[in-house]
Amino acid sequence: MENLRTLIESYKAEINTEHPATAVEKESFRIKYLGTKGLLKSIMGEMKKVAVENKKEAGQLLNEFKIFTEEKFASFTIAENASSNNAVPDMDLSLPGTPAPLGTRHPISIIKNKIISIFYKLGFAVAEGPEIEDDFHNFSALNMPDNHPARDMQDTFYINQNPDWLLRTHTSSVQIREMQKGKLPLRIICPGRVFRNETISARAHCFFNQVEGLYIAENVSFADLKQTLYFFVTEMFARPDDSVGRGTDVKVRFRPSYFPFTEPSAEMDISCLICGGEGCNVCKKTGWVEILGCGMVHPKVLENCGIDSNKYTGFAFGMGIERITMLSYQIKDLRLFSENDLRFLKQFESV
Ligand code: DAH
Repeated sequence: MENLRTLIESYKAEINTEHPATAVEKESFRIKYLGTKGLLKSIMGEMKKVAVENKKEAGQLLNEFKIFTEEKFASFTIAENASSNNAVPDMDLSLPGTPAPLGTRHPISIIKNKIISIFYKLGFAVAEGPEIEDDFHNFSALNMPDNHPARDMQDTFYINQNPDWLLRTHTSSVQIREMQKGKLPLRIICPGRVFRNETISARAHCFFNQVEGLYIAENVSFADLKQTLYFFVTEMFARPDDSVGRGTDVKVRFRPSYFPFTEPSAEMDISCLICGGEGCNVCKKTGWVEILGCGMVHPKVLENCGIDSNKYTGFAFGMGIERITMLSYQIKDLRLFSENDLRFLKQFESV
């Protein structure tokens, strides 16, 4: 017991001379005295030499020594923090945190959402359909029989060379799916991705996005179609209500055209937003840019979907979101949309 007491006293004296100044020195202290192979452990091992009647007292002594050493160690921690606060602080709690980087919405999504919100105002609901389609919904029901020359307008990706399964070439296929449900009147827009076997360039891509529109009811006329699209153009391009609006008057014109699923058919142009109608490369010096195809739904298409074409009429339109985004932000190369270059993407509004 006496030996133990003397030993502990001498260790205490030794510990009292320890003043670790750095984290490394402090760690050495911990290893030396408190570590698994440290001094404390080794004198605990001495316990077995102590006579039975002294065990209790020896235990208390060792326990006290343990607490002494641990408190000493803890006081170094405090001393170190305290001294470093005065000098160069390790940690400045008043500094702002590291912000988690916020993404930005893709420009195509921004414009898609804007288009949807405009048609919402007119009571159109969003409808979606599958990207993998069958021939019926993508072509036949839309009045494009086999070998019809209109099929050549849309170079199609077939799945496993099966002539019945394909990647949809337009969102007009969603019209068919919605009309087949038989709930009339029908007022929908169908945003979605479409695919065509095209060589990628600044003006063409093998996939892009469209918004299809469809309104079927009694007495729907071409005048309704024109008014709907005028409203869309004004909201989309002429209202200076956000970063996209040009704040200028945008002119609109309709040109007769041909689509198998509409009769009569038209294409709609707007005055070029890049040059203001004066003529530039984007409008090929014409001052006009085509933004959509449209027309009155062909009676055969209505009948293909089980709708009585004597009772109901309707209009449809289809536009490319990429084209509208390019005009809105003056983007001149389609490839930028799919390259995922952050220098490009970060220029658009935050989420
Ligand atoms: N489906 C046509 C295309 O991809 C676009 C289109 C034109 C849709 C006229 C329509 C329409 O609904 O009436 O080129």
